[in-house]
Amino acid sequence: MEKTLAIIKPDGVQRNIIGDILHRVEDSGLVILSIRMLQLDRKTAGRFYEVHRERPFYQSLIEYMTSGPVVVIALEGSNAVNRWRQLIGATDPSKAEKGTIRNKYGESVERNTVHGSDSPENGSIETAFFFSSSELKMKA
Ligand code: RTP
Ligand code: MG
Repeated sequence: MEKTLAIIKPDGVQRNIIGDILHRVEDSGLVILSIRMLQLDRKTAGRFYEVHRERPFYQSLIEYMTSGPVVVIALEGSNAVNRWRQLIGATDPSKAEKGTIRNKYGESVERNTVHGSDSPENGSIETAFFFSSSELKMKA
């Protein structure tokens, strides 16, 4: 079993597509362990995206991720990391496969609507970043 962190980014929340995204999660068979809406502050967003600190898009990414509420979702399943990344598509929505969330909703390489962890190790680290261990034990 793997965990992965999904985030519905501010553009997704603002455009009222939380429902469609959750519908896709539930249809996929991935299990929602925990879910919460929150407003990221600059410090927390900066820590979450620490690996990108030296990248030219870092400041802009922090602006975007703090521009409105996000929905964080801890998912679990076999091969959960890759299954969720298949559903969201490539980082750049113009290169994301048809039928993926980013292909349908992404506005640009930055405003790409959703996040997914990139490895099982980061899936555990990132779900623990937002949720306590007791929250990650819940199961429908
Ligand atoms: P994520 O972490 O959000 O799931 O996205 P990802 O793995 O597909 O892409 P990553 O390389 O980790 O980049 C993190 C987020 O930074 C923004 N970005 N902007 N302007 C740019 O060239 C650029 N490149 C990346 C995107 O919001 C991306 O999801
Ligand atoms: Mg990434």
